[in-house]
Amino acid sequence: MPIDPLKFRKALGYFATGVTIVTGLTPERIPVGVTVNAFTSVSLDPPLILICLDNATGCLGAFCEGDKFCVNILGEDQQALSEDFAGPQEHKFKDRTFDTWESGCPILPGCLVNLECTRTETINGGDHFIVLGQVDRIEHASEGRPLLYFQSAYNGVLK
Ligand SMILES: Cc1cc2nc3c(=O)[nH]c(=O)nc-3n(C[C@H](O)[C@H](O)[C@H](O)COP(=O)(O)O)c2cc1C
Repeated sequence: MPIDPLKFRKALGYFATGVTIVTGLTPERIPVGVTVNAFTSVSLDPPLILICLDNATGCLGAFCEGDKFCVNILGEDQQALSEDFAGPQEHKFKDRTFDTWESGCPILPGCLVNLECTRTETINGGDHFIVLGQVDRIEHASEGRPLLYFQSAYNGVLK
């Protein structure tokens, strides 16, 4: 039976996720970033994570072909940052300061977690690409609550 795309979308929206901003560099080493909730831990040993990126993402090449990328996991007070990185690329790093580690990919301040990764594989997944990364470096906050995304809306953790 064919799947109704709207029903599929609605159904997947019941799966609450955190929100990340994935950052990378173009071949010219220009910083790029995308808000991504399709982030998953994959393996503890070796330490692997994955992200899924829409084929239509403007800066796709930075993640599907670049060697390195970073994942910044957002806290509950970072909805505005999430919205900025879901908008037009030219505004994302305008007047924004960030740190860099060894890869040079942007490490966004104030996040719950920052991960620096080496891309190990890019897999075709329908209208998305699945990008698998091995984690090279981790920093995390000692406390804090995540920004959540549920039924196409932002949320905090329910008590
Ligand atoms: C909460 C939220 C989660 C998102 N998750 C994803 C995702 O997992 N994968 C993806 O490709 N786009 C996702 N997007 C959309 C992208 O952030 C947006 O299309 C992207 O910034 C476009 O980048 P571009 O300007 O390089 O095309 C999400 C947007 C929001 C608001």
